[in-house]
Order: sequence, then C-alpha cells, then structure tokens
Amino acid sequence: MAQQVRGVIARSKGAPVEVVTVVVPDPGPGEAVVKVQACGVCHTDLHYREGGINDEFPFLLGHEAAGVVESVGEGVTDVAPGDFVVLNWRAVCGDCRACRRGRPWYCFATHNAKQKMTLTDGTELSPALGIGAFAEKTLVAAGQCTKVDPAASPAAAGLLGCGVMAGLGAAINTGGVGRGDSVAVIGCGGVGSAAVLGARLAGASRIIAVDVDARKLAAAQKLGATHTVDSSAADAVEAIRELTGGNGADVVIDAVGRPETYQQAFYARDLAGTVVLVGVPTPEMQLELPLLDVFGRGGALKSSWYGDCLPSRDFPMLIDLYLQGRLDLDAFVSETIPLDGVEQAFERMHKGEVLRSVVLF
Ligand SMILES: NC(=O)c1ccc[n+]([C@@H]2O[C@H](COP(=O)([O-])OP(=O)(O)OC[C@H]3O[C@@H](n4cnc5c(N)ncnc54)[C@H](O)[C@@H]3O)[C@@H](O)[C@H]2O)c1
Ligand SMILES: [Zn+2]
Ligand SMILES: [Zn+2]
Repeated sequence: MAQQVRGVIARSKGAPVEVVTVVVPDPGPGEAVVKVQACGVCHTDLHYREGGINDEFPFLLGHEAAGVVESVGEGVTDVAPGDFVVLNWRAVCGDCRACRRGRPWYCFATHNAKQKMTLTDGTELSPALGIGAFAEKTLVAAGQCTKVDPAASPAAAGLLGCGVMAGLGAAINTGGVGRGDSVAVIGCGGVGSAAVLGARLAGASRIIAVDVDARKLAAAQKLGATHTVDSSAADAVEAIRELTGGNGADVVIDAVGRPETYQQAFYARDLAGTVVLVGVPTPEMQLELPLLDVFGRGGALKSSWYGDCLPSRDFPMLIDLYLQGRLDLDAFVSETIPLDGVEQAFERMHKGEVLRSVVLF
C-alpha cells in the first residue's frame, strides 16, 4: 500500500520550498523504498528551485542521502530490507554503448524508479536527480542504493551521493592524481574541498587551494591543502606557478565552472598537465583560448561528471577509508538541520557560510 510521508518540494520557479505530504508507492519490479536518515543540501537543489535544470515542477528536492532500505520490489537481489545504503544518481544500465565498452562510469542510460511519487491530489513529482530524498521515505531504482558499512554516520555517508564524490572523483578518477603530483584546486566549496581531500588521499605532494573567500581557504587547509591563494587579492596563475617552481601544477581542478576560472586552470597547469572541469557552467558562458596554446601546452582537458565514479566500486571503499580515519567526511557536515530548515540552508549556502547543511531525520 502506498504510504504518506513528509517531503520538501519546489512548487514553482523561485518560490520558497514547502514541506508537504508526499505519497510514496510500494516498490515495483526493480525498485526500492528507502527510509532516509540524512540528506545534504547541494547547490543543484537550489538550481532546481530556480528553474535552472528544467521546468518539470513540482520537484521533490534532495539527493545527497543515506538511509535504510525498507522494502524492495520483484526481482531485486542486490539490496534487501535493512541494508544501510548511500543513494546514487548513477545506477548503471549495463547495456548502453559506454557500459558495453567496459566504461560504466560514463553510463548514458542510468536507471531511476519507473513509478512516480505524487502529492495527495495525484500531482506527479519530479525527484531531484531521480532521488528526491528531502523526504522521510523515497522510491528509487534498486541500483541507486549502494550498500556500505552501517558503522558510518548517515550524515557523512550521504554526502558521497553527490558533491563530495564529485570532488574526490575529479582528483582521483578524472584527474588521475598520483604520488608526488602537484595539484591546484580553484574554488573550495563542498566540491573543491573534496578535491583537496582526494588529492591528499592520492599522495599529491603539493596541494594549492584557491578561493576568493578566506573561510573556504581555512577549511581547505584543514583538509590537506599545503598552500592557499586568495585569488581576490593575488593573480591565481602567477601564484600557482610560483608555488610550483615556475612551472604550473600537474593537475588543476576548476570547481567553480566559469570562463575566467577555467582560463586560470588552463594557464596554471604545467606543460602536458591536466585540467579537470567539475564546476558546472551556465548556458550563456563562452570560452576563448588561442588554439596554438591548446596545442602547444599539450596534456589533457577533461570534464568530470559525478567524479567519474562507479558507486558500487567507490562508495564502499571510501566509507571504509572514512571508518579507518583516513578520509574526513565529517569535516563537510557544517550543521545538521530539520526537514523544514532547507530554505534557510539555501541562504547560508548562498552566503558561503557552510560546506554542507545536512537534514537529519
Ligand atoms: N560535475 C559534477 O558532477 C558536479 C556535482 C556536484 C556539484 N557540481 C558543481 O560544482 C560547483 C561547486 O559546487 P559547490 O557545492 O562546491 O559550491 P559552493 O558554492 O559550495 O563552492 C563554490 C566555491 O567557489 C568559490 N568561488 C566563486 N567564484 C570564484 C572565483 N572566481 N575564483 C575562486 N573561487 C571562487 C566560492 O567562494 C566557493 O567557495 C558547482 O558549479 C556545482 O554545480 C558539479
Ligand atoms: Zn549504461
Ligand atoms: Zn548535488
């Protein structure tokens, strides 16, 4: 029987979010209902509310979540009721051209629940990134549930579901950072700080955090940045070159996603180095670069979607490292808030006061 739970929706473009009753159907074939324990507030939730992703209002927001599987539908074998899971937005299909070539982290046909959650009047909801976890319970495709060690704190574990994984993966997976590399990260919010942490985990010897906000630089230093650059006061390219023997960094990660930060990343990189774009640009942004510099500087210009992660491979491994004290996911949890605190959390995020606010159920 369908259940009624409380959830946070964005009803129309720009309007404040509301806590409403959400109807969650029983799981059908290949689906699972998850009792959500924690869900982080991500910039993308705000993008949804502002109509920046698409106009399929109303949205059921929230997508960086951990919880316990309550029930599963027909044919589900990977997870069972009682499992502690992190929700992901990359439930790979196994059948698209990326999956068939053995690159499932690029899967072009990821799974979501087929049935819709609704309002009590039957209005269908669009769950953010196919998850919708600012709700006491949510319906997802079973492949969106990744089982991890239940000893982990739900607030910390849930953050792997989006921004923190995107940043960690930008360094570890997309950037291929290795022992002894020099790395610069431009923009040290939740995503960029996670890239700093990923660079440290991978053995980078020099990690340069760049931001225009001193609070973010202080946080990045705690997570492993060996040097910081306030790019509101100094030229980021010159500063990074100076800190790398005049050469530039082996890997530069743009976790802002603007033409000017991308240009900084491009020129702050050593010859044959790698640029990773993980910040998300908006449609009107344009980039102009001398093609001769693109050629002459060599190396790789890459983009990173969700940190090129494979949830089934990466989430359990990262949770194990977290439990061993080698990956400080707790540092990203700036505050925990109730379900009706999402709107205020958007404001704090906008002012740069938090890395992550996390709704606890
Ligand atoms: N690629 C992906 O899969 C993926 C996943 C999640 C989020 N994102 C994107 O990553 C980006 C960062 O997300 P976040 O949650 O860390 O946001 P955030 O707002 O927490 O962080 C952005 C940081 O960039 C800094 N900044 C802004 N302009 C700057 C500039 N010109 N130079 C240097 N620093 C600057 C800000 O001070 C802030 O610290 C967003 O664009 C978000 O949409 C991408
Ligand atoms: Zn696929
Ligand atoms: Zn997100």
